[in-house]
Amino acid sequence: MIVLDQEKNLSTLHTQNTTYQMKADRFRVLTHTYYGPRIKDGDLSYLVRYADRACAPNPSEAGLDRTYSLNTIPQEFSTCGVGDFRLPSIEMELPCGSCSADLRYTGFELRRGKYALEGLPAFRGTEEEAETLVLFLEDAAARVRVELYYGVFERYDLITRAVRVVNLGEEPARLRQCASLCLDFLRSDLDLITFNGCHLMERFPDRAPLRSGVQGVGSVRGTSSHQHNPFVVLCDHSANEDYGLCYGAALLYSGNFQALAEASQYDNVRLVMGINPYQFCWTLEPGQSFTAPEAALICSPGGLGPMSRQFHRAIRAHLIQDPYEGRRHPVLINNWEATYFDFDADKLVDFAKTAAPLGVELLVMDDGWFGKRDDDNSGLGDWTVNEKKLPGGLEALVPRIQELGMSFGIWIEPEMVSEDSQLYREHPDWALRIPARIPARGRNQLVLDFSRPEVRQRVYGQIKAVLSSADISYVKWDMNRSLSDVWSAALPPERQGEVFHRYVLGVYEMLDQLRHDFPHILIEGCAGGGGRFDAGMLYYTPQIWCSDNTDAIDRLRIQYGTSFCYPISAVGAHVSAVPNEANRRVTPLETRGTVAMSGTFGYEMDPNKTTQEEKEAIKAQVAFFKEHYDLIQRGDYYRLTDPFAEGPYTAWEHVSPDRREALVSLVYGAAHAAAPFRVLRLKGLDPALRYQVNGRGAHPGDVLMSAGWPLPPAEGDYPALRLYLRAV
Ligand code: GLA
Repeated sequence: MIVLDQEKNLSTLHTQNTTYQMKADRFRVLTHTYYGPRIKDGDLSYLVRYADRACAPNPSEAGLDRTYSLNTIPQEFSTCGVGDFRLPSIEMELPCGSCSADLRYTGFELRRGKYALEGLPAFRGTEEEAETLVLFLEDAAARVRVELYYGVFERYDLITRAVRVVNLGEEPARLRQCASLCLDFLRSDLDLITFNGCHLMERFPDRAPLRSGVQGVGSVRGTSSHQHNPFVVLCDHSANEDYGLCYGAALLYSGNFQALAEASQYDNVRLVMGINPYQFCWTLEPGQSFTAPEAALICSPGGLGPMSRQFHRAIRAHLIQDPYEGRRHPVLINNWEATYFDFDADKLVDFAKTAAPLGVELLVMDDGWFGKRDDDNSGLGDWTVNEKKLPGGLEALVPRIQELGMSFGIWIEPEMVSEDSQLYREHPDWALRIPARIPARGRNQLVLDFSRPEVRQRVYGQIKAVLSSADISYVKWDMNRSLSDVWSAALPPERQGEVFHRYVLGVYEMLDQLRHDFPHILIEGCAGGGGRFDAGMLYYTPQIWCSDNTDAIDRLRIQYGTSFCYPISAVGAHVSAVPNEANRRVTPLETRGTVAMSGTFGYEMDPNKTTQEEKEAIKAQVAFFKEHYDLIQRGDYYRLTDPFAEGPYTAWEHVSPDRREALVSLVYGAAHAAAPFRVLRLKGLDPALRYQVNGRGAHPGDVLMSAGWPLPPAEGDYPALRLYLRAV
């Protein structure tokens, strides 16, 4: 609910459990007065304190009042160059050459339904589901208007934000930074949690109390990156899964980002999140506008668990656009780890022959089916079927797979080009490269200049022809290197600062086109595993390959970190062969299945290299997953333990929205003799209901949560346990 008090210039956004408030003050500076647990209406500007502090400039309107300074008041969208020395939200190079912004509130607009952003991902909401508030700010001297967009989804405690900057002047203006989110807190006793890692080990939570000064994460790799995720949390020092005030902020953006928190001199904190200003400079001609990507905020007064569950629900309901719309996604088998580039049509058919009777429903043909591609040194850019491997093309192969009762999916990597390719020989200038420099290779490939429409059109034309040549129901869109040598032959020198962002817009545009032309195709995002796992991609691709690391034990950590923002239904997870390709660890098949099931679930191994006993186990896993699909994919997710705490086991739980069903999954660590007697306390159950556990008994929900369930001793290394609870 949005409540406006026009006399006081007060805007209050209420969600089910939270309240957010802003007020334009006596000088029409838009101050941020409150964000936290839901309160009744009231003007919270009394919390803003004014004091005469040294080295805090006073704007001219304040006259001789030395207590009013932009440097000390909490602001909704911070400015630069006119007296606030904390993190700016906007930096604008004006025609005179100055870099400054001074924004004052001029008005608002209220709309039913959620605003949309052209060319950018955004949460969607009908008039019944969401409201929009737009606040207008203006810099009279710079002749610039800034529009702050707020989307309010009450039920999910979700507040989205986006920013549009309009050049009202008669000369071009250059935007050097435009954040999506600025959030000032009147306290600094907070922890910052970021999610970091590398290829094969993505999104490990890192939590630390804020220190004085600026701290944060970002990416300058052209993608959101394996290294840092565009999702951060600020929370009470004492916050845990079930307790404490937490603020989660996700950026719906898949390119260079920055999330910085600054703890400043008077124990205030400012969080600024948006496109990374690194090498960013966007020219706005008179009348033109620039839109910064959307940021999504969820405040949870009751701990990290409820915060994550609200993100999951909101992302599933209002961000992801799923061609299966409430229907179950197919269980897939992917040939990558089983064959790498060494496959042909017959081998794939043999995979399907064995996998289909086990209940697997979709065969995904990974890298190597196109151009000249027998290893990763050539072929990218030539999206035509290699008829030596697949005689007769997909027209011949797909019906053979379908006859076996399976559907068919395909891998692509549209943004890349190999130097050894037809495309590169024809258009060497279509790769990103800096004049007079030889571009750096990554996985021996170059990056196509996706800021250019003609480049996208050529690649898309070929891919469209392939996807139209047969009945294809799934596409894995991969992206296997970071951007370097970023320079576009299509833009003049003074506009090269736009290339990084135009590249992302180009990717989004092609994804939109793909979804439009093939609405039935399920797209899985991927970037060398989880190098572009962000809320922006989830708008286009309902699921994302979580990591190239398929080891079940490492995955416990990777999937744990990922779960802080992203729903289970989005987490690409497969059972692969042992010893694992990434770390040579051997884990039981049951454990690999249990971990992959808390994700999209599928297999990435040669089914013809499994024993009869393993086949039976796979068949049982697939049947179990299908039976409990709704519970796992649409239920509420509870982290029961922290896999980084090195405890004896890692456990998590899915609970159905009506709390009548739950699935507890647990993976033990390495074996020990004389194991202590352990009890696992469950969460999220209905205390008044009684539950059967794995088909037995009638255990009260309150007892299972308060007293717990005795765990059997582990046998061998890394065994798994699944407890299925049903109310009786
Ligand atoms: C990336 C992906 C893998 C696989 C290979 C193919 O690494 O993450 O799953 O598709 O590319 O080259």
